[in-house]
Amino acid sequence: MGPRITVIGSINMDLMTKVGTVPQQGETVLGEDFTMVPGGKGANQAVAAAKLGGDVHFIGRVGNDLYGRQLMEHMHQQGVSIDNLEPVTGFPTGIAIVLLSEQDNRIIVVQGANQAVTPAVVEMHEKVIAESEIILLQLEIPLESVQKAAELAKKNNTKVILNPAPVHFLPETLLNYIDVLTPNKHEFDQLFTKTQKQSRKSQCVITKGKDGVVFTVNDEEKTIEGYKVPVVDTTGAGDTFNGALAVAISKGKSISKACTFANAAAALSVQKLGAQAGMPNMKAVQHFILSNRQKKGI
Ligand code: RIB
Ligand code: NA
Repeated sequence: MGPRITVIGSINMDLMTKVGTVPQQGETVLGEDFTMVPGGKGANQAVAAAKLGGDVHFIGRVGNDLYGRQLMEHMHQQGVSIDNLEPVTGFPTGIAIVLLSEQDNRIIVVQGANQAVTPAVVEMHEKVIAESEIILLQLEIPLESVQKAAELAKKNNTKVILNPAPVHFLPETLLNYIDVLTPNKHEFDQLFTKTQKQSRKSQCVITKGKDGVVFTVNDEEKTIEGYKVPVVDTTGAGDTFNGALAVAISKGKSISKACTFANAAAALSVQKLGAQAGMPNMKAVQHFILSNRQKKGI
């Protein structure tokens, strides 16, 4: 097995409906389809990394209910270690209601058991954090827990990637521990150009969907173009990007190579319905990158 990647984050059941137009105030519309699939930003990123061959551990909490059992079984089947994923009482398993329409995706997340990933729980798992090359974090568990995880990682010489989604103000004390920050365009604007004007100390990688990826090397801004692909569902594309980025960085790839790899993995993921459906394996990504280069004659 290669270097270990530990994801500390959320795990949800995604309840997806497809609608022609999203309901307006006071309106009821008929959905066209209903699908129930595993999701949650943390779990999605863990599965993306595992599919790409990473040695992935997941620290998280589900409810003591049917969805919780199904999700634990699913994570195990996807090759993610669930030694640190436990059911808790008092909370239902986290869910997301996903409305897919022609115009956009709208998501409501009910955190449930993800709230039980407290700083104390994170501290309980210091050993797995210390034994990891990288930890991968998002913002669907309490912020203090994200802070604790980043702090313990730094103490133990483990790299930290933070995907700041859903976007939230990031205290300086947290930003100081982050090696790579991966906002999308909207999150980047919220964090750095609008009201908050947070300082940027970590390496920043901005994902822009079909417009590709922007990152900086020695203060110089670089762009990797997006791929033109038939889009079925963009839910979880950012998660695939983050999981893939973690795999590449854990293997010592440069930020530029890691972004190129993750950009291709994300482009493949949007071609199937559901956050985790469409997440590629290593061979598929390599083949996709190569065949697109050949098409362009480079
Ligand atoms: O990033 C996509 C994910 O966000 C979905 O799977 C949903 O569960 C929400 O957490
Ligand atoms: Na997908």
